[in-house]
Amino acid sequence: MILAHDDVGSGSVAVLLVHAFPLDRRMWRRQLDALVGSDRRVIAADLRGFGASPGTLTSVDDHADELAQLLAARRVEGAVVVGLSMGGYVALSFARRHPGKLAGLLLADTRAGADSDEAKQGRVANIERVRREGVAAVFDAMRPKVFGPNSTREVIEELRGLAAAQSPDGVAAALAMMRDRPDATPELEGICVPTTIVVGTNDAATPPSEAEIMHRAIPSSKLVTIEGAGHFTNVERPDAFNRALLELLATVRR
Ligand code: MLT
Repeated sequence: MILAHDDVGSGSVAVLLVHAFPLDRRMWRRQLDALVGSDRRVIAADLRGFGASPGTLTSVDDHADELAQLLAARRVEGAVVVGLSMGGYVALSFARRHPGKLAGLLLADTRAGADSDEAKQGRVANIERVRREGVAAVFDAMRPKVFGPNSTREVIEELRGLAAAQSPDGVAAALAMMRDRPDATPELEGICVPTTIVVGTNDAATPPSEAEIMHRAIPSSKLVTIEGAGHFTNVERPDAFNRALLELLATVRR
């Protein structure tokens, strides 16, 4: 079954929005609102196991391939892939596996490296936690790293609500997928499409140092640091995020 998605606007090149963990495509509503009415086509997808895409997947490459199948089904020839955090892991796999469909890349609050041993242990603990206590408990365990002093209660409650709506099976599979994903660092230097890297200065989950590693390795990439924002920059600071996205889109050939 094709991934659940929104597809607005028209054109053969689309902006493809790939959500974070443990959320779904509804986290992009501020970007859809900003882009609807522009001359851009935008597709926001629910990765397998999230939102309205039932099932489970434990391979980052399988997620990337499902996005490529979605683009083919929607007759999209090329995409500016926008991935935040887990969405960035999938976006980097997409860049490796489907370079001919990649028109541009925005990597937000993510990292190219694989999980450390400590992070892998954290995934295992969270797989047990989601089975025992549910998805909201996994989200609550993430809070100290993903939110900073400027993160508002409204934003935290909105994202917690999205997390609580996710399937424990889908979330457990995604935790295994993230634990086992390969190191994408060696492939960064081969990325030759317009690329922007976005990071919030208060993001302790995927901190600015990770964004700088990707910026140094991806030729001609642009680094946008959003002062005072936590991990979910597109939700916390939509104006700054949308500006970075629109500036990237202005450089992409259609
Ligand atoms: C996310 O926001 O997608 C997660 O922080 C990714 C992760 O746990 O590595």
